[in-house]
Amino acid sequence: MTRTATLEIDGKKYEFPIIEGTENEIAIDIKVLRGVTGGVTTIDPGYKNTSSCESAITFLNGEEGVLRYRGYSIEDLAEKANFLEVAYLLIFGELPSKEQLEKFHSDIKEHSQVDEDVKKILDGFPKAAHPMGVLSSLTSALVAFNPSSVNVDSEDEMYNAIVRILGKFPVLTAWAYRKHAGLPLEYGDNSLGYVDNFLKMMFKKPNDAYVSNKVIVNALDKLLILHADHEQNCSTSTVRIVGSSNAGLFVSLSAGINALWGPLHGGANQAVIEMLEAIKEDGGDTKKYMTKAKDKSDPFRLMGFGHRVYKNFDPRAKIIKKSADEVLADLGVDDPILNIAKGLEKEALEDSYFVDRKLYPNVDFYSGIIYRSLGIPTEMFTPMFALGRLPGWIAHWREMRLRKEPIGRPRQIYIGETHRPFKNIENR
Ligand code: ACO
Repeated sequence: MTRTATLEIDGKKYEFPIIEGTENEIAIDIKVLRGVTGGVTTIDPGYKNTSSCESAITFLNGEEGVLRYRGYSIEDLAEKANFLEVAYLLIFGELPSKEQLEKFHSDIKEHSQVDEDVKKILDGFPKAAHPMGVLSSLTSALVAFNPSSVNVDSEDEMYNAIVRILGKFPVLTAWAYRKHAGLPLEYGDNSLGYVDNFLKMMFKKPNDAYVSNKVIVNALDKLLILHADHEQNCSTSTVRIVGSSNAGLFVSLSAGINALWGPLHGGANQAVIEMLEAIKEDGGDTKKYMTKAKDKSDPFRLMGFGHRVYKNFDPRAKIIKKSADEVLADLGVDDPILNIAKGLEKEALEDSYFVDRKLYPNVDFYSGIIYRSLGIPTEMFTPMFALGRLPGWIAHWREMRLRKEPIGRPRQIYIGETHRPFKNIENR
């Protein structure tokens, strides 16, 4: 039996179907609402109660702390798969066979060259430019060098655009860093794995050979997997909405990078370390900052705490906390910032303000700590997040195109002036 929901407006009743997902989530399907009611819409700032689409990519249950990509638990994937396998899974729906994975990697490697002229664009940026701005600009600029990536209708054309960006994006990310750090630009080595190759492009010194470090490669692989998708978050929704106008993949991703930059989203990992550093500079008094975070007249928030969806715990934070402990022990890192982080975490978990509002450390609280111990500079944390999120953004863009979703175009409730006579400039 089809379930329905009844809406009554001014005594008139309207029925709407209820749709159900494979995990028994239900939604009232209001696609025809405006038509049947003569113009009534719904309003939901921040979309806290709105499902923007049906999607088969990622399932998460914020109350129970569950996160699955294409049905596989994040715990299994983080432990047993590598980042490229997870990218394939997210984008194409199934874990790749050995042959499929090899072909995928080989196609990506074939397109890992970036046109030399892109370096001229990079050259125009000031050295102090934030790498996220550089990365989003260069990702857009890539369209000029790969025009065939724009009008992609067939699966083959989409595949070509996808392997191109997966090949070139790590190069751009590493270049954005090297420009910032004043290092000569570096190309990768196709004999290395995807993540190892990225690390080489980031860190190889001009006068030293690159030596892979398994602990670092594994930690980064895991971090990228944990960040690879998170259903309809701010940046992914941005990618889908930009892509819904049939703008190409690269510019849709560029828009996603900009959305990710904000401190309430991907910028939080940078904001966490900056907050910890500020607390250290101020004498390390964590209690003072706990009080500030709870004071409603103070705009300060405890960065790395709270999540729009997870109101129990963030399952990624659990995995990453363990990984952080392992990496720090393995690399023998002794960092005063970490003691402040541990202090804040303990106090927040015992404080009724945080407990009552279900504010737990999120993935960004720990990812910044790992990035720092791996020697990745603070302003590169959000670009690292972007590199991890790339397969998720691509998967959503591809799904949206294959499902032929309509252009994203919300409505509004206008609250401005009603019609009024024009005033000549002398009378204003
Ligand atoms: N510190 C102090 N108080 C907080 C915090 C925090 N970090 N987060 C939420 N609160 C409080 C709010 O003031 C509010 O209190 P009230 O009910 O007394 O008014 C309550 O908790 C609910 O907060 P909202 O802002 O309504 O929660 P929302 O779901 O809209 O926001 C968000 C979630 C943006 C992540 C928020 O918790 C936050 O700003 N956290 C810090 C930034 C951060 O870590 N962002 C990373 C998110 S993870 C990611 O993007 C990968």
